[in-house]
Amino acid sequence: MRTGQYVPAPGTVVVVTGASSGIGRAVARAFAGCGARLVVTARSADVLDEVARECAAAHPRAEAVAVPADVTDAAATDRVARTALDRFGRVDVWVNAAGVGVLGRLDRVPPDDVRRLWEVNVLGVLHGVRAALPAMRRRGRGVIVDVSSLLGGAVEAPYQGPYAASKAALITLDEVLRQELALSGDHGIAVCTVLPTGVDTPFFRHAANHTGRRMRALPAVATPERVAAAVVRAAVRPRRRVTVGPGARLL
Ligand SMILES: NC(=O)c1ccc[n+]([C@@H]2O[C@H](COP(=O)([O-])OP(=O)(O)OC[C@H]3O[C@@H](n4cnc5c(N)ncnc54)[C@H](OP(=O)(O)O)[C@@H]3O)[C@@H](O)[C@H]2O)c1
Repeated sequence: MRTGQYVPAPGTVVVVTGASSGIGRAVARAFAGCGARLVVTARSADVLDEVARECAAAHPRAEAVAVPADVTDAAATDRVARTALDRFGRVDVWVNAAGVGVLGRLDRVPPDDVRRLWEVNVLGVLHGVRAALPAMRRRGRGVIVDVSSLLGGAVEAPYQGPYAASKAALITLDEVLRQELALSGDHGIAVCTVLPTGVDTPFFRHAANHTGRRMRALPAVATPERVAAAVVRAAVRPRRRVTVGPGARLL
């Protein structure tokens, strides 16, 4: 992992949603490699246990607890934050990486799939923010990292309309959150929106596909580890937006 000089202090407390697969799993591993103490969450309990074991083995100082939860459930997400506080006493970094895709023409994607996508990609992130903020406010510091997508702003792509709209919503919500934190005097809490290009993960296999074809990311894909390194850097040296992947900055 290339985080350069931006390495979090061992013992940093990090919560990662979507940690059972792809980017979230790579993010958890990357922090663990720096000796972080992690709470990893997603719905797949078995895989999460495996991720927690992987993380704990990654560094002598690393610790990891798995908390199965659905991000669309606010109370369950609060329990994730509570576990971090009970086990580690604080939340330094909260990474919202859980997300789903729906593929298909705008006039053909079933409304229920779109509703579900919105609940996971937007409401799920809001639940994470609401769970993380009280703990961060108490200490006057913290970093929230939200994984959006270049499809949310810089690039439009057919057959990914609802997904792109949810990622655009996330960019806007993060802008508003930054302003509200400034207005409430919470200057020690940073919000960073990560905008990856296509990333080589099972995302397209997991997506609800209504195109009638097999879909995959466009060829200019990044590895999940590259995105994870960017997330770790963002946690140490927060920036408003971080683009990741081949040609991302250009786009
Ligand atoms: N892959 C790409 O090309 C790409 C590009 C730009 C941005 N992104 C974004 O990166 C993030 C991670 O995607 P990925 O590529 O790593 O996809 P992935 O491999 O499919 O991982 C998605 C993760 O989200 C979790 N998740 C899904 N629904 C959930 C729910 N209701 N509650 C809790 N967790 C849930 C999944 O775990 P469970 O199924 O165990 O719950 C899994 O851990 C997403 O926000 C995605 O939009 C991906």
